[in-house]
Amino acid sequence: MLFQPPIPPKYAGLTDEQACAMILERKKALGSRLVILGHHYQQDEVIRFADFTGDSLKLSQVGAEQKGAEYIVFCGVHFMAESADILSEDGVTVILPDLSAGCSMADMAELDQLEDAWDFLVGECGQEVIPITYVNSTAAIKAFCGGHGGACCTSSNARAVLEWAFKQGGKVIFLPDQHLGRNTAFAMGVPLEQMVVFDPALPNGGLSPDQARDAKVYLWKGHCSVHGLFTAQQCDDIRRMDAATKIIVHPECAWEVVQKADMAGSTEFIIKTVSEAPAGSKWAIGTEIHLVNRLVERFPDKAVRSLAGIQCLCTTMYRIDLKHLAWTLDALAAGRVVNQIKVEAETKRLATVALKRMLENVTPVPVAIK
Ligand code: 13P
Ligand code: SF4
Repeated sequence: MLFQPPIPPKYAGLTDEQACAMILERKKALGSRLVILGHHYQQDEVIRFADFTGDSLKLSQVGAEQKGAEYIVFCGVHFMAESADILSEDGVTVILPDLSAGCSMADMAELDQLEDAWDFLVGECGQEVIPITYVNSTAAIKAFCGGHGGACCTSSNARAVLEWAFKQGGKVIFLPDQHLGRNTAFAMGVPLEQMVVFDPALPNGGLSPDQARDAKVYLWKGHCSVHGLFTAQQCDDIRRMDAATKIIVHPECAWEVVQKADMAGSTEFIIKTVSEAPAGSKWAIGTEIHLVNRLVERFPDKAVRSLAGIQCLCTTMYRIDLKHLAWTLDALAAGRVVNQIKVEAETKRLATVALKRMLENVTPVPVAIK
């Protein structure tokens, strides 16, 4: 995870009103040279300045499509800004307002661990393996996948990418999120017994050569700390309280939670489903609290609540605040770039292969995992 040095006192001391006024002014001054992208988990104060909002897939598509912009300011987390740098046109500068906005799940897979896994599964056990990485991963992991016949996916198109991978023949190692991998493969008909967890902290992932040979899917032992807070018990409690409430969760939730839910899909899918639901419908949502609260406000005619009784907040997404955004835009308007995210050339070349495969395997609407 990167470290964000304190921003100058001139910005740290801004009131919210002053920061908003500065952001608006600098945004106006920069005009079409600047595009601000905002992920659905951003705080309201920040996301209202975004030119485009979306889930990881949509924001990757938008980043790749920008023509003529000089700067993309990414209100999201580090791996998203890296993907925007990889996919955007040459000459576009990508900026992350707070460098410490990382993703704990992405940090759970390191390149040397994946290389060791590969040596064991492919080298020692002789398996044919396609590496598929969730886009919530470092550029180095994406590059490994691109360079070894694999691809990236998001929660919006994990199923389409896994279908693509199985068509190549062989097995799949899915990383870093074991839950997205398990939920997606299970929905496609792969039995749980054919999936094994590969724990990068253990020699050979904790697998014997026989276990490695018998499995169809290797699930990297990684998870999202936010979605890990949702439990099957919470689903049971909702059912007991009110059978009419529908439960919709993100597929980063554990398999037991997804099985008990009515539906599972990406943030874009959750928004679309609740938006299209009739007035009076009731929803318990298993995803980050800023998105849930936004849906509560947007649909007063529907009963929307979090699946958990506790606040499931992504603390790294939350690091992007008005002051850091004001600081980055003020610098850009003065001709200075701060917090640029730039992926090294060879990593970029191979990661592009994996990300392009991800963008080729997209259905026109966000689809359910379950
Ligand atoms: P999506 O918005 O792509 O569903 O991803 C959720 C998430 O956890 C992003 O970090
Ligand atoms: Fe990472 Fe989870 Fe936060 Fe998404 S919600 S950025 S997966 S920690």
